[in-house]
Amino acid sequence: MDLGIRGEHALVVGASEGIGYECAKGLLEEGAQVMICSRSEQKLAAAAASLERATGVAVPWFCADITNAQDVLRLRDWVGARTSSLPILVNAVGGSHRALFEELDDAAWLGSFEFNVLGAVRVVRSHLDLLKQAGNARVVILGAAGARMPYPHQVVSNVSKAGLIALVKTLGAELQPYGIRVNSVSPGRTLTPLWQQRAEKMSRERGVGFEEIIREFSAEIPMQRFGQPEEIASMVVFLASHKTSYVTCQSILVDGGIARGLI
Ligand SMILES: NC(=O)c1ccc[n+]([C@@H]2O[C@H](COP(=O)([O-])OP(=O)(O)OC[C@H]3O[C@@H](n4cnc5c(N)ncnc54)[C@H](OP(=O)(O)O)[C@@H]3O)[C@@H](O)[C@H]2O)c1
Repeated sequence: MDLGIRGEHALVVGASEGIGYECAKGLLEEGAQVMICSRSEQKLAAAAASLERATGVAVPWFCADITNAQDVLRLRDWVGARTSSLPILVNAVGGSHRALFEELDDAAWLGSFEFNVLGAVRVVRSHLDLLKQAGNARVVILGAAGARMPYPHQVVSNVSKAGLIALVKTLGAELQPYGIRVNSVSPGRTLTPLWQQRAEKMSRERGVGFEEIIREFSAEIPMQRFGQPEEIASMVVFLASHKTSYVTCQSILVDGGIARGLI
């Protein structure tokens, strides 16, 4: 299937590893001209080299921390120097915080909001002129299945990620007059550096093997296994394509069936 995005400019934020990296790879494989961003120069350089080895295409990269407003403005200037329009924007930055409600102070709540919601707001807002210029741009923001079926001990990220769904549904309608579609992909448990580190920490704390932790957390997933980052990225690339031209304001679960609410 030709997704129709050959030659289109795309920016993937949070692409040095994990799901964002696979989104960049998937978009490159479809012929898009991909730019990548995250905080670490070292990780970005390695990701760009790896993407070039895999696809034969050089990938420009820029260091920015989306919890820093000035960084996001610098990112916009860097993107604007490369293209006058941005048909595809993916934000893959975010994460969860395992803690009990009583352990969380205001700083933890504000930090999670900035990381998961305000960061995405800044990324979209600062590129709005370039998105409008494209005429039919697609924005895809990574959410989480936890927003649809709140996980225990993750109250702060459950709430932030639920806010992202509201953002996507509001923005998709508000930006429709500019031809901009806005959707979210909500992964379930996915084996990326994020989960790798979490499982390693649990393994140390509980004195059980890494594989046992993964087995335990797989048991409540109907598909009985974690997702692979490329399985999430496939949906992101599809939503970023022209094959989903009637899809906007949606939060699509890619979670092996873990979140099974009727609405
Ligand atoms: N993995 C899962 O099980 C899972 C489940 C549900 C939802 N999700 C969601 O899916 C998305 C991707 O998750 P992932 O597992 O791929 O995460 P990950 O493995 O932690 O990768 C996150 C990426 O974002 C970059 N990043 C982190 N903080 C940043 C910041 N402040 N500014 C700019 N870049 C930043 C990281 O690179 P640098 O270190 O170079 O900045 C990295 O490239 C997130 O929104 C996450 O909440 C993941």
